[in-house]
Amino acid sequence: MRRCLTACWRGILPFAVVLISISSTRVVAQTLAHTHRPDINNGRTIFNNGCIACHGSTGKGAPQTSTEFKRPDTFPEFTRCDQTTPEADSAWKAVITHGGPSRGFSTIMPSFGELLSSNEIDDVIAYIRGYCTNPHWPRGELNLPRAMVTEKAFPEDEFVMTTAVNASGAPGAKTDFIHEQSFGTKSQLEVDVPWDLQDQNHSYNSHIGDMTIGWKRVMFSNLRTGSILALQGGIIPPTGSTKLGGNGTTVFEPFLSFDQLFPTNTWVQFQMGADLPRHPNITPQSLYYYTAIGQTLSHDHRLGREWSPMVEFLANRDLKDGAKTDWDVLPEMQVTISRRQHIRADVGVRTPFTNTAGRTPTVNFYLLWDWADGKFWEGWK
Ligand code: HEC
Repeated sequence: MRRCLTACWRGILPFAVVLISISSTRVVAQTLAHTHRPDINNGRTIFNNGCIACHGSTGKGAPQTSTEFKRPDTFPEFTRCDQTTPEADSAWKAVITHGGPSRGFSTIMPSFGELLSSNEIDDVIAYIRGYCTNPHWPRGELNLPRAMVTEKAFPEDEFVMTTAVNASGAPGAKTDFIHEQSFGTKSQLEVDVPWDLQDQNHSYNSHIGDMTIGWKRVMFSNLRTGSILALQGGIIPPTGSTKLGGNGTTVFEPFLSFDQLFPTNTWVQFQMGADLPRHPNITPQSLYYYTAIGQTLSHDHRLGREWSPMVEFLANRDLKDGAKTDWDVLPEMQVTISRRQHIRADVGVRTPFTNTAGRTPTVNFYLLWDWADGKFWEGWK
């Protein structure tokens, strides 16, 4: 532990400096979503005139006897915070402005882009938000685009398949199947099962690696300042073979994630953690700090398809005196591919730039399915 004191602090310090300087910019990051202050009273009038017939005065849907349509599975209950808070205002604004089909939803949800101004749509959204009365749920705006490696702070309901293929050296690929599920207002469970494919003297060998089970909890989130902070504790049992890169001992992995969104839709995500094996003589303790900086671009006043170019800076270092830090860079592009934006893809290249001996560049790819927003095959047309 004594050894860690100097080594750890040298590692943590630059990270802390960046965190503090970012949080001091919070003042600038006010009024994230709106250019005008939404008028909730006006929103109520609009809702009572244009929406109540279908969505009902309670926000749970008008009585089935008075509505002619059959409710789609995805029909919203605005009182259910678990359903509404993960949705960003922009997702709702797209549906209200252009109608259900613009996001792969039912044609029953009409478009109001011709009837209501952009400000009026913001007003009615602000009114609908009032149906969720628990302010502790983190808001979907803070669910930033997932980076390839850096884990975000927002608790997710998603399934991700992510692959890294060696771009040089011995052919090989590592694929992770990741299931994430939020529960309660602030928590998330995660299971990650890695699957490796390696070429060993021209015969391919595939096997399961060390899996991870993790529990994340949001400690702080604020839509006004655009910030969210979460802690995660993970356990990595030695399910993989040590001959093929497995740890050979159970590893505990605590980490912290801090994400900051700016009004320009630029964002920064930090993750910092440690891998603490039960038997450090088998696998050394190590520290990592990851940063992803990116920008989300979207046409049609941010209502269209989202493109998120980003770059990750990834540092790993063993907790030993004199150990060097391995730095990698990973430029990448994430894009929403389904109309509903619940399926996303990301592609990038990870290149080592310090201690490059024995470390190869990889081509990385993932496919992400936000399953709370609908079935995989729904919402494309
Ligand atoms: C004719 C009936 C009808 C009217 C009128 C109507 N809606 Fe809807 N709305 C629906 C239906 C049906 C859905 C569910 C669509 C689906 O899940 O496929 C929906 C879905 C929504 C959603 C959820 C979109 C999402 O991302 O899950 C929002 C928000 C919404 N409506 C807002 C409004 C507002 C605001 C108004 C009034 C300005 C309004 N609706 C008027 C029928 C209606």
